Amino acid sequence: MKKRIVVLTMAVLFGLSAVACGSEGGSSSGGTDTSTESSSSGSSDSGTVANKDKPLVWFNRQPSNSSTGELDMAALSFNEDTYYVGFDANQGAELQGTMVKDYIEANIDTIDRNGDGVIGYVLAIGDIGHNDSIARTRGVRKALGTGVEKDGSIDSEPIGTNTDGSASAVQDGSIEVNGKTYTVRELASQEMKNSAGATWDAATAGNAIGTWSSSFGDQIDVVVSNNDGMGMSMFNAWSKDNDVPTFGYDANNDAVAAIAEGYGGTISQHADVQAYLTLRVLRNALDGVDVDTGIGTADEAGNVLSDDVYVYNEEERSYYALNVAVTAENYQDFTDSTKVYEPVSNQLDESSHPTKKVWLDIYNASDNFLSSTYQPLLQNYDDLMNLDIDYIGGDGQTESNITNRLGNPGQYDAFAINMVKTDNAASYTALLNQ
Ligand code: BGC
Repeated sequence: MKKRIVVLTMAVLFGLSAVACGSEGGSSSGGTDTSTESSSSGSSDSGTVANKDKPLVWFNRQPSNSSTGELDMAALSFNEDTYYVGFDANQGAELQGTMVKDYIEANIDTIDRNGDGVIGYVLAIGDIGHNDSIARTRGVRKALGTGVEKDGSIDSEPIGTNTDGSASAVQDGSIEVNGKTYTVRELASQEMKNSAGATWDAATAGNAIGTWSSSFGDQIDVVVSNNDGMGMSMFNAWSKDNDVPTFGYDANNDAVAAIAEGYGGTISQHADVQAYLTLRVLRNALDGVDVDTGIGTADEAGNVLSDDVYVYNEEERSYYALNVAVTAENYQDFTDSTKVYEPVSNQLDESSHPTKKVWLDIYNASDNFLSSTYQPLLQNYDDLMNLDIDYIGGDGQTESNITNRLGNPGQYDAFAINMVKTDNAASYTALLNQ
């Protein structure tokens, strides 16, 4: 990992000049002057640092064009203390696809429930304009051989129903086990969006499996979902009772526990590392230290991440946690998704890391992953990092529902933003630019 030495030097210089002048700030990073800090007030620099210069982290939904996937670099480099924290979508997608394929191969004697020689699966798609969702759809289609190339990558469009194998966005794949070849077919796929516009919608997925199973249930041998929220909804509505392996993504507590009851598996996107990084990049900027502190380089409390759990892409200004497959073999190690990651669980000292105030939103307060895994983790880390966070829960449908509650950015030292739609970063940065 490259260090941002230039930025660090500037922060140090500014910090020194601020101390020399006895002023209260002067650095966009803030925090280098601790002389006026009151540890209980929760905020010090917010009055002197312009909102546009305050640390900003995007998380979970990467600023990008929802049609082309192109990153929104204006948003990602809004100021020198702006970052994105997410996970490696392609690596995770490949793991998910491989996990499903491995399961089919290992259970080849029993998987084809109606014995028609076709291994049929259905796929719940989260959000057709979200890079993570697109990657997962592609990963499954690639591993199972059902993907079709379009403009240089695998088509990720939902197909509706395809019981006869005639859809053009997918093709029949094949898997060879013990010298025998089996056909694999995507029988149906759909974006799980409710009538109010919320995506990744678990209830919609539960309804979809009801519709699919009543018309071609005996052909469904495997259920795959872009996330556990939708996966568990389908599992509870149908696949559990019908012994149909169901695969999700996120390693939420309920999904991991369900592996003991026949849920096929899930992927941990290392939310414990992501939640840490989300707050740590803000903390480092507020402290005016190198962004790598407590990340690739141990801090004074001993917090440090090893490079097998995350990567940093400097050009994209993005931190990506790495994913791990969770199956019947190892699920016992993942039963509490809200537990802080041990190597970065040390409390920061309040005198050198004074309390700062952060505005943070969760785009959809009822999203399973964000509400049951990510936010509890953030809440565990905020105390360790002396961050006083206002958590704002959105409705998952409209950006204004959230931006309306960023009416007074001057009250905060830093911002952590989870957008409804990945194209909409400017709705937030406009408020910080005012
Ligand atoms: C998670 C989904 C979640 C989505 C929200 C994804 O990374 O896997 O479960 O709904 O983020 O943006």
